[in-house]
Amino acid sequence: MYYSTYPKSGILSVGIRREDKNIWERRSPLTPADVKRLIEETGTNVFIQPSKNRIYNDLSYEKAGALVSEDLGVADIILGIKEVPISKIIPDKTYAMFSHTHKVDYELIRDPITKKRLVMFGKYAGYAGMIDGVHGLGQKMLAMGYNSPFIHVGMSHVYPSLDSIKNHLKLVGKLIEENGVPKDFGPVVFTITGSGNVSQGVKEVFECLPHEYIEPKDLESFVKNYDGSFKYLNKVYGVKVNAKDYAYRKSDGAFDYNEYKSNPELYSSNFHEKIAPFTTLLVHGIFWNDKYPKLLTKKQLKKIKQDPKNKYRLITISDISCDIEGSIEFTNKASIIDKPFFYYDSIKDHHHQDKEGVQIMSIDNLPTELPDESSFNFSKLLYPTVLEMVKNNFENEILKNSIITESKKLKSEHSHLYDMLKKIKEDASKIVVIDNSLKKVLLAGSGMVTGPFIKYLEDQGNIEVSIASNNRKEAEDLSSNFKYTKVYDLDANNLESVDRLVSDNDIVVSMLPAPLHPIFAKSAIRHRKNMVTASYISYEMKSLDESAKNNGVTILNEIGLDPGIDHCSAMKIIDNIKDRGGKVKSFISWCGGLPAAENGNNPLGYKFSWSPRGVLTAGLNPAKFLLNKEMIEIKGDDLLERNFKNVPLFKGFSFEGLANRDSLSYIDVYGLNFKDLDSMLRGTLRFKGYSELMNGFSKLGFLDLKPLSENNGSTSFKDGSDFTNYVLGVRYNDYSSVTDAVSKKLGLSKDNRITSLITKSLKSFGLIGDTKDYQSYELTGPTVLDVFGQILQKNLYYTPTERDMVVLNHEFIAEFSSNEYELHSSSLVTYGTLGNSKKKGETAMARTVGIPAAIATKIILEKPTIAKGVIRPTIKEFYLPIMNRLDHLHMNDSIRFVEKVDKYESFGSAKYASIVSKIQ
Ligand SMILES: NC(=O)c1ccc[n+]([C@@H]2O[C@H](COP(=O)([O-])OP(=O)(O)OC[C@H]3O[C@@H](n4cnc5c(N)ncnc54)[C@H](O)[C@@H]3O)[C@@H](O)[C@H]2O)c1
Repeated sequence: MYYSTYPKSGILSVGIRREDKNIWERRSPLTPADVKRLIEETGTNVFIQPSKNRIYNDLSYEKAGALVSEDLGVADIILGIKEVPISKIIPDKTYAMFSHTHKVDYELIRDPITKKRLVMFGKYAGYAGMIDGVHGLGQKMLAMGYNSPFIHVGMSHVYPSLDSIKNHLKLVGKLIEENGVPKDFGPVVFTITGSGNVSQGVKEVFECLPHEYIEPKDLESFVKNYDGSFKYLNKVYGVKVNAKDYAYRKSDGAFDYNEYKSNPELYSSNFHEKIAPFTTLLVHGIFWNDKYPKLLTKKQLKKIKQDPKNKYRLITISDISCDIEGSIEFTNKASIIDKPFFYYDSIKDHHHQDKEGVQIMSIDNLPTELPDESSFNFSKLLYPTVLEMVKNNFENEILKNSIITESKKLKSEHSHLYDMLKKIKEDASKIVVIDNSLKKVLLAGSGMVTGPFIKYLEDQGNIEVSIASNNRKEAEDLSSNFKYTKVYDLDANNLESVDRLVSDNDIVVSMLPAPLHPIFAKSAIRHRKNMVTASYISYEMKSLDESAKNNGVTILNEIGLDPGIDHCSAMKIIDNIKDRGGKVKSFISWCGGLPAAENGNNPLGYKFSWSPRGVLTAGLNPAKFLLNKEMIEIKGDDLLERNFKNVPLFKGFSFEGLANRDSLSYIDVYGLNFKDLDSMLRGTLRFKGYSELMNGFSKLGFLDLKPLSENNGSTSFKDGSDFTNYVLGVRYNDYSSVTDAVSKKLGLSKDNRITSLITKSLKSFGLIGDTKDYQSYELTGPTVLDVFGQILQKNLYYTPTERDMVVLNHEFIAEFSSNEYELHSSSLVTYGTLGNSKKKGETAMARTVGIPAAIATKIILEKPTIAKGVIRPTIKEFYLPIMNRLDHLHMNDSIRFVEKVDKYESFGSAKYASIVSKIQ
């Protein structure tokens, strides 16, 4: 309770706020019936903030005599269920809620003598947790290949009432009695931990099934005696387990409840030996804190699961207590009602969604699944306290004890919270706010790398992605692969709509063409929202650094593949070298998104897995790098010409390379020392032949970035030949006229290899002769390069039976002393997945750009105090958790670096072994 002493007298009015923690929060602190009673008994005014998802609709409150009001500033006391976001707190009001700042508020409404809580939802978590657990058991058995009666049980929220749940369970019970549970699993044992309100609810539901209780001490022999006979299968077995059944004093094996409570460190647990291997479904509802022994650790589970005898034991856990990485060590997150289960592979120590391993349900807002009954009961319990509040009787003993703040100050018994507040102010960077509220992510753009981005975030739960794009069809197709996405039309140049979208979300991720990012960045700064992009920091973006910092906004850029995880993996190695007292002497990094070798079946040896505009303009960027102590600068127009003809990475590939922008600018960014460096180069990989051919197209004008001049009164082309004529400045578009023009423009003979390669390619792209390729396709764009990009994308795409590949390789030479050198390499080679006639595969490019961007988004959402300004993931706060989370991705999403270190006695010998000496 947060009590305001703002002078008020007489009867106080009540406001009931709209819950906004997540869409499932449909409970209300007072039912319409109790509102009616309150108004009748006291004559107070009750204001109800309108809500579309509350279990009782606005009309039912109006009928009860409440007034619907969006503005709760009119009320003296504001009631809610969940904590009120700081931005929505109205000054000088008395608030009552569960704030979870500490065990306070509604939890402090206690009997003055017994000190027992008077207002709670406990039993309802037990009801819902048990039902969801039985539902999970049916799902898990099915995933293991078994039909069972449990498959007929749904999640709690699909039932209209607790009675209907109980009746339904009785029907399911009949099936168990008649047909039994699957023989391989028998006897099915439900282990129920705890003896509080939660486990009361659990047992009440459990007992609706045909059942028999077993004593914990008899469990092992009971299960071992199972002989497959039906008498074990036509019911379920319950084991009620409390600390005395598994905790024992380390010194002598005895148990003393009072000592266990006061000195839990003296105790160990044998739950993993006596109970867990004989359990089928564990329903966990015991109070725990880190002084007590864990109920089940990762290591203990691994041991259980390594024993083939236990294949059908401990298959699912309903972790109602949901202490993250606590009592059940492998519960590493709270799950959500929409996605109630996740799975833990104890052998590989890996959490995933593949239904293999132990299934875990850890929803932490279970009573919201039974909003009617839990609200009804809560309202009944809360009513006497509300009555005292309305009568302005804050001296009432129960009420007085539940108040934490009074007159804008913490009451003396809660003053220790000031220390916490002080610590937050002193070292904000160390505070991670665990916030399970629904987070809204705005994804601007629906292009080629966005699928895995959404998938990763959706898998995290409690995140809703809104896709905004100027290509409605593309956005809707993308959205159709996911459950909770919404689609919005976006014209990035319409600032009003950009502002609206940005302000409606918690974070903005721009996957638009890079020149559009600053529009969103400015809006994000205005609305104090954080932002993520996968693009290089442009000059315009950099200029926003100060204003982002001043407004406390994080604009994280360069978090895709390259730039992106190349930075993260490089920084990890650089910091390791520096921490051990070494100096980086050479850094050479290559990265490319290419067709898998078997699919590079066109003269460019290239297909598009990301923005064609981005790919084409990358061939025109000026570049600067250091190679063998020589500083080399290449003009944009010469980049394709002055390519590295041979980059001998990995036997079996035939790569060439292009210098990638200004490598020297990364000397500072990576914290390297120019004086120490012999070589510093970041480059892009292509298959041999790409640069020569692309250079030809460039020289002919196909990569021209000047705005299109009007072509016969329009800036769109009627077909491919119209476009070729425009670019080459020819009138006729037959093969021989185009060959003439190409040879003349390039200064090569007509039968020269390049001339004929280019003409053949133009023909194969439908750009020569009377082709019908672009009839339903509008050939237009701001520049020739854009139109050419569209044409290439239409021709050079991955079919469902083709896949791409991402190759990334870093090489560092580090000096530790005059005769101690190390050659470090870190490489990543990963492939896209094949599709089929119905579904496209996923490109390795989309995965290696989308997932890192999604991980970074999640990190920012989790840590409001993270670094501010226009930044890159080269700071530890980002690259370490990003690399860690990449390591824990599921195999199908795998993005893993292979690292290697070789030692040498001289710089020369390290260099001789390194790629620097071999690139030409
Ligand atoms: N760091 C890396 O390794 C890496 C790799 C690939 C892509 N990227 C970057 O990721 C971003 C997305 O790449 P992609 O391959 O998905 O691009 P894409 O070209 O496939 O998609 C761009 C999207 O933006 C939309 N769009 C374009 N102009 C718009 C406008 N004016 N208003 C609204 N929407 C508009 C398009 O409809 C499309 O949905 C780009 O910025 C790209 O540079 C980074």
